[in-house]
Amino acid sequence: MDERIAVIGAGYVGLTTAACLAELGFTVTCADVDAARIAELRAGRMPIHEDGLAELVRSNAAAGRLAFEVGAAPSVVDVDVVFICVPTPELPDGAADMSFVHSVAIEIGPVLKSGAIVINKSTVPVGSLREVERSLARADVAVVSNPEFLREGSAVADFLHPDRIVIGADDPEVAARVAALYRPLAAPVLLTDPVSAETIKYAANSFLATKLSFVNALAAVCEAVGADVDEVVLGIGYDSRIGHEFLRPGPGWGGSCFPKDTEALIRIAEAAGYDFSLLRGVVDVNRDQFARIVDKIERALGGTINGARVAALGLTFKAGTDDLRHSPALEIIERLLARGATVRAYDPVVSMAPITGVTVVDDLYSACAEADVVVVLTEWDEFRLVDVDRLAGVVARRAVVDTRNVLDRAALLRLGFTYDGVGRR
Ligand code: UDX
Repeated sequence: MDERIAVIGAGYVGLTTAACLAELGFTVTCADVDAARIAELRAGRMPIHEDGLAELVRSNAAAGRLAFEVGAAPSVVDVDVVFICVPTPELPDGAADMSFVHSVAIEIGPVLKSGAIVINKSTVPVGSLREVERSLARADVAVVSNPEFLREGSAVADFLHPDRIVIGADDPEVAARVAALYRPLAAPVLLTDPVSAETIKYAANSFLATKLSFVNALAAVCEAVGADVDEVVLGIGYDSRIGHEFLRPGPGWGGSCFPKDTEALIRIAEAAGYDFSLLRGVVDVNRDQFARIVDKIERALGGTINGARVAALGLTFKAGTDDLRHSPALEIIERLLARGATVRAYDPVVSMAPITGVTVVDDLYSACAEADVVVVLTEWDEFRLVDVDRLAGVVARRAVVDTRNVLDRAALLRLGFTYDGVGRR
């Protein structure tokens, strides 16, 4: 492959992009401002837990196709294509913080070779591509929007088997060069303008969040009328316009993308003169969901959270990742702590307490020892296999709140547990 590539940012998106492009045969340098992170990567140690990524990093580094560099400027010398994959965290007003993107652009502008392409993969407000062009200050360098749709936990598989590739570019020749990078993946490619590409990213995440708030709201209705949400979802999902995917009820949605991207799209719409009340409702329903779960726990405890011993199973924002950012589990635990509960937690991939006041233990049954209520917060597979007899033997009270509907309800009820899931009869 003749295009030489630099990827700026060694987080979930950057590291996955770098390792997968190297796997496709490109020569890739992955850069980060965090010197300690680069030192770890050079030593073959992974800063994040992502299925299959460690193997790809190791094999491609050994094959000489993947190198690591501290700082953006040294990594882009003589490079043809630069991917910007730095974070765009949420500002206090909900808008996306573009400062990392701009500082990278300002840093690499003077170093880039003529004819290079800068690809923005970071999720940026609509219209940002023009701002990046200004920060780069290079008329001979093209800037392209190419949003990522990687799920944490399956980011490598998502990169190598994408549903689609979206490329937003002004110049068709530049777009074709970017599309060629992905040719080995044989995925549908949508070539569009930059503003549409940027909007697609926010629209995709906001629509997915809308599905989840819809199903969580539906679960509340199911509980009230005596329906079972799993049956209802099965029933509606056969309509191919609705589908069965991404409709699992839960404790509310979280993670590094949905909360910030929904807020950002609300702000983007507002700035453009449109009140996106539907999306505001989606965010409100999610906030209500955390409160509904705390109410369930209060009921399971017989009405008093203060002084109760809660066993929390799961801390990450979903299974398959070690990411705790905007985790619904932590959101709910914080509310319990604020109301005087004691929380002992177990998570298969978390060993340190992520917030003060929680004790994290390395065994599910010791987390549940002497508990007044057991609360499942993340859908880790091992929770499905929990030994309910052993659980019954260690808890102080036989009460379960299962916010992911993963435990064996029938077995728990047989043992005299009270069981409350989400949207189940
Ligand atoms: C998401 C998008 O899926 C991905 O395409 C985008 O690029 C980044 O944001 P991610 O944040 O990794 O990916 O997580 P995802 O698997 O989408 O889950 C987000 C949240 O929704 C989690 O809190 C998860 O537990 C919750 N969820 C997901 C449900 O509650 N029910 C579901 O059916 C699916």
